[in-house]
Amino acid sequence: MSTHTVTAQSCANIAFIKYWGNRDHELRIPSNGSISMNLGGLYTHTRVTFDPGLRCDELVLDGQIQAGAPLERVSAMLDRVRRLAGLAYNASVQSSNNFPMGVGIASSASAFAALSLAASRAADLALDEAGLSRLARTGSGSACRSVPGGFVEWRAGNRHEDSYAYSLAPPEHWALVDCVAIVSREHKSTGSSEGHPLAYTSPFQTARVDDAPRRLGICRQAILDRDFDALADIVELDNNLMHGVIMTSSPRILYWQPATLTVMHAVTRWRTEGLPVCYTIDAGPNVHVICRAPFASEVAERLKTLPGIEAILTATPGGPAQIINED
Ligand code: DP6
Repeated sequence: MSTHTVTAQSCANIAFIKYWGNRDHELRIPSNGSISMNLGGLYTHTRVTFDPGLRCDELVLDGQIQAGAPLERVSAMLDRVRRLAGLAYNASVQSSNNFPMGVGIASSASAFAALSLAASRAADLALDEAGLSRLARTGSGSACRSVPGGFVEWRAGNRHEDSYAYSLAPPEHWALVDCVAIVSREHKSTGSSEGHPLAYTSPFQTARVDDAPRRLGICRQAILDRDFDALADIVELDNNLMHGVIMTSSPRILYWQPATLTVMHAVTRWRTEGLPVCYTIDAGPNVHVICRAPFASEVAERLKTLPGIEAILTATPGGPAQIINED
């Protein structure tokens, strides 16, 4: 096989209905389906070359050579690609994000979506969107949702073949904005991968999972109807259910900081006053404040006045993972 270099780009995503807990940890078959919006402009670029001259896989992340756990996780993904392609070469992987890692913006989602696309193409594998989404899922669950564009649903499924994500609506379907209130840039203490296995130690997880089809139905319909009030209500409920599980698992995890709560209270107040806005928080302290586009600058201005906000990132619905260079 001729070696060539492929660079792929993929957006982060924010879950409206969250993935928390797995049915199968190895394969990352989730306990419940989830729905997200890709975050246009918050992306990972990943460049992959399979090279017969390399003695082992190499990973450079934001300019830093990696060893240990991050390299092993990337190598495990490369192993899957090598198995599928019948390829024995090691690979060099260079990846960079244009947003801070480990702060509750799912960097593993954009990272593994971009890696799956770049590595599979560099290995001459022709995967369709569902195949790519399945592959990305095995690296990081939420990464399967960064493969298709716009508003995306991940069908939980029972086995590898039927657990993948697809687009519910393209990015231009609904002009929403995610104003991410960064309350801390510190690396989170417990990553999602360590959190998922704890989910069922919470007595709330079974109730949360049993009710998931209802929430997914409401969220899907709210997106299709562009019904912001319905979306806001279900997004906040789903967020609080997930954090309820997280706060009551053994050991307990508390991702929220005081400033997280400050934003949650403010958003609740603003919505009562008529501003179309809602909050949702991933596995970290930062708050994703979702609003309709005409209100985004007003929301960002208001967020800036709150105590404890370090920065605000904004994103509009983003497109699918894509190849940006091949040589
Ligand atoms: C809270 O996809 O990061 O962001 O599969 O172990 O990589 P791994 O977990 P990950 O979990 C995401 C959890 C979440 C909710 C979500 O994005 O659905």
